[in-house]
Amino acid sequence: MAVSFDLFAGFVDFAPAGSEARDILAFDADAFDDWLRDQTIDLQNWLKLADFKAGIGQVILLPDGRWILGLGRAIARARERFVLAAGFGKLPTGAYRLANELPNDLSLDMENLGCLLGGYRYGRYKNKQAQQPQLMLPQGCDADRLKTMAMAEALTRNLINTPANDMGPDALEQAAAALADHHGAHMNVVLGDALLTQNFPMIHAVGRAAEQAPRLIDMTWGNTGPQLTLVGKGVCFDTGGLDLKPASAMGLMKKDMGGAANVLGLAHMIMALNLPLRLRVLIPAVENAVAGNAFRPGDVLTARNGLTVEINNTDAEGRLVLADALALAAESPSDLTISMATLTGAARVAVGPDLAPFFAQQVADADQLMQAAAPAADPVWPLPFHTPYEKMIEPDIADLDNAPAGGFAGAITAALFLRRFAGDQTRYIHFDIYAWTASAAPGRPKGGAGQGVRAILTALPDLLDLPK
Ligand code: BES
Ligand code: ZN
Ligand code: ZN
Repeated sequence: MAVSFDLFAGFVDFAPAGSEARDILAFDADAFDDWLRDQTIDLQNWLKLADFKAGIGQVILLPDGRWILGLGRAIARARERFVLAAGFGKLPTGAYRLANELPNDLSLDMENLGCLLGGYRYGRYKNKQAQQPQLMLPQGCDADRLKTMAMAEALTRNLINTPANDMGPDALEQAAAALADHHGAHMNVVLGDALLTQNFPMIHAVGRAAEQAPRLIDMTWGNTGPQLTLVGKGVCFDTGGLDLKPASAMGLMKKDMGGAANVLGLAHMIMALNLPLRLRVLIPAVENAVAGNAFRPGDVLTARNGLTVEINNTDAEGRLVLADALALAAESPSDLTISMATLTGAARVAVGPDLAPFFAQQVADADQLMQAAAPAADPVWPLPFHTPYEKMIEPDIADLDNAPAGGFAGAITAALFLRRFAGDQTRYIHFDIYAWTASAAPGRPKGGAGQGVRAILTALPDLLDLPK
């Protein structure tokens, strides 16, 4: 294919070994007070005049060339995901070495990761690229793993941040192909009308009104170990279809392929770290567009697995394209199937933009993910596959309703809908993510965002019984 995608653009690595680096003293408020007592009166006065108190994100240059970065108090730190990154991002370009130990409540690995993640800038359309400070590789960190995590996040952000005119179904396929190429994975694509002949009717119905043909991307990697199947919503733009979204809701809908962007980020980590498993990544890539041949409210579609679906809102398109992909996944044995999707506004209302809500068939899986969240600096929270709500997704004239009226439990009913396609034989987990940082925070620039994937990666050895 002609164009390729610069997968990891914007990723800022650790400074190369041997770089000339300046020292950073990272002090919390107490450690700063202790240190200050041993300094000259001149320096004490200097820092007092500058009103430096080692608050989170406060930085100051000492006359000897070292920098102090404030880490605040433990009670304030608990409110931030990354603390070191708050000050690190304010330093001038150059290489820096952390010269002291962090307080006990902070993880050296995650604070270093925060600095890597905070250096990312989306520069594709900027003529002038911003320069960022770089951290020297610290002792005692798993540098390869941190680097892999930061590269995966850059990939996910790049895919989401790229607007739909440059990240339609074609470009998403090319990006997936570039990743497959990078890792020697195999990729197959079912394109356009082949979706009909090969029985993916709902992917076709949702995507057929768009200029770029709908498709199903199918990537496989690895030949031993347990089977993990990832399914990501790849709606490259969601106008809502004939049930058109108002402008205020449509504005951000380039991010509706955030599930695909996240599963590709996770796939990158799995392949780069060479985890002993067999991986399959399925991405239905479509644009939910408006045209004379668009699917309509009231249409009844037959899904790949034979279930019929009454379309009560063309804006509930994500569950339709995922359903056919999940049905395909369920046709081969899988030890664990995980879907990720910007599926419902209800999920965002329930937990807000920072926390990734997920549904797990098995309580033990939910526990593993919850335990992995903090050490991976990736907060997740379980919601229930509440079976009694199955009634809500059963309409009058078909098996399933894609958009139940009533406005109750929208994230749950969407998850229950997907579960109908995941197959009874498989352990199934579904993430309903927001995939966007609306206001920048330390380590998290505004824009596309990975959610849940570091928690999944961290939990995978337990979830799949991998050798540790
Ligand atoms: N892509 C949207 C969901 C979405 C909107 C996620 C905003 C994150 C932020 C999805 O396709 C959609 O429009 N869902 C509808 C479903 C409803 C019509 C049943 C929703 O959530 O309103
Ligand atoms: Zn929609
Ligand atoms: Zn959508």
